[in-house]
Amino acid sequence: MKARRRVVTGSAASVKRRPTVRKIKPAIAPVARRASSSASAGSAATARSAASAAARPEPSLPAAPIDLAVDLGRGLVLGNPILVASGTFGYGIEYGDVVDVQRLGAICCKGTTLRPRIGNPTPRVTETPGGMLNSIGLQNPGVDAVVEKYASTWAGWQVPVIVNVAGESIGDYVEVVRRLDGVPGVAGIELNISCPNVGAGGIQFAIDANAAGAVTAAVRRATDLPLLVKLSPNVADVRPIARAIADGGADALTAVNTLSGIAVAPSRARPLLGNVYGGLSGPAIKPVALRIVYEVTQVVDIPVIAIGGVAELADVLDYLAVGAVAAQVGTAIFADPGLPVRLIGELADECRGRGLDSYRPLIGTALPKRAAPPSARGVEYRP
Ligand SMILES: Cc1cc2nc3c(=O)[nH]c(=O)nc-3n(C[C@H](O)[C@H](O)[C@H](O)COP(=O)(O)O)c2cc1C
Repeated sequence: MKARRRVVTGSAASVKRRPTVRKIKPAIAPVARRASSSASAGSAATARSAASAAARPEPSLPAAPIDLAVDLGRGLVLGNPILVASGTFGYGIEYGDVVDVQRLGAICCKGTTLRPRIGNPTPRVTETPGGMLNSIGLQNPGVDAVVEKYASTWAGWQVPVIVNVAGESIGDYVEVVRRLDGVPGVAGIELNISCPNVGAGGIQFAIDANAAGAVTAAVRRATDLPLLVKLSPNVADVRPIARAIADGGADALTAVNTLSGIAVAPSRARPLLGNVYGGLSGPAIKPVALRIVYEVTQVVDIPVIAIGGVAELADVLDYLAVGAVAAQVGTAIFADPGLPVRLIGELADECRGRGLDSYRPLIGTALPKRAAPPSARGVEYRP
């Protein structure tokens, strides 16, 4: 077993955490912004005095800089720990007029395969309580078209673009990564291993430690690009899988992909999605993702990036507390494309409010002081 990584890099004891009992948020509705004190005061007199105070020129001090940089290894250093999740932000270019994409920590683009894919039959998405189900089916134009259409634009950006790669055999993954290797504008690879391994009778790479380790090692041999591997939550015990991926040479882990689920058509005559199965995402999956990040950060010594239901700063802080070094925003972007960039500012403000000059002391504060014994069953849940 690998040595346990101590992720707390600052004075954890000085960080006070607020209780995180919150109302369940709607799946993809924008999170209500906190009312400012002048707006919440309610009376006309208060509003007038607030307005006149706002009109008075205040000597404005520049906000103290906060170190938000994240080193993912192999030269990939993000300016901040807020990324956008694969499949929820296109290729980044689509959002150029809406969001200041350059401020993001990184962009994980839509899953890219060797050949073009038309995706699954419709319907492909449906809302669920606190989440959504999607079965897009990795619709994408194929790696060569992705490079041709987008890479030159990415090359001119300061925000790193990490290409999410999918395949149905180790050969597929290796070939896609070879075609991305050395392409200006491609800053790293995120392997989506939640795909059926055709060679192994359709079993997903992500649910088998040997298969996950093998695909990671093969891709590692094919490229020197920073390599992130994305864990699936659809397993009994993610820890041996995470260890196999780390041993296979991944630079970082991302956790997690969607949870497998289905919905039923209103007629009740069949399942709703054209593909029957879909992936559940959004706030509903956060407790599961949080548990997985908590377990994984204690058994690997590579950075872990959290994904799952991030909709407000408290979610990012929770993930940092269980050892993640960064977080990806996914489903929440559909309702509020400006959220990821706003979270960067809110995280910096949170650090200032706590008297920190770096976000790193927030990492790992909720982890046990000593490593928990490995579980024989996987999930430490007792009803
Ligand atoms: C519409 C949609 C498409 C997605 N496509 C991909 C994909 O191509 N590759 C991938 O690794 N993950 C994909 N995901 C999973 C997300 O990247 C993320 O792991 C998941 O949605 C959980 O995060 P969230 O709850 O913040 O959305 C997709 C998710 C959604 C909602």
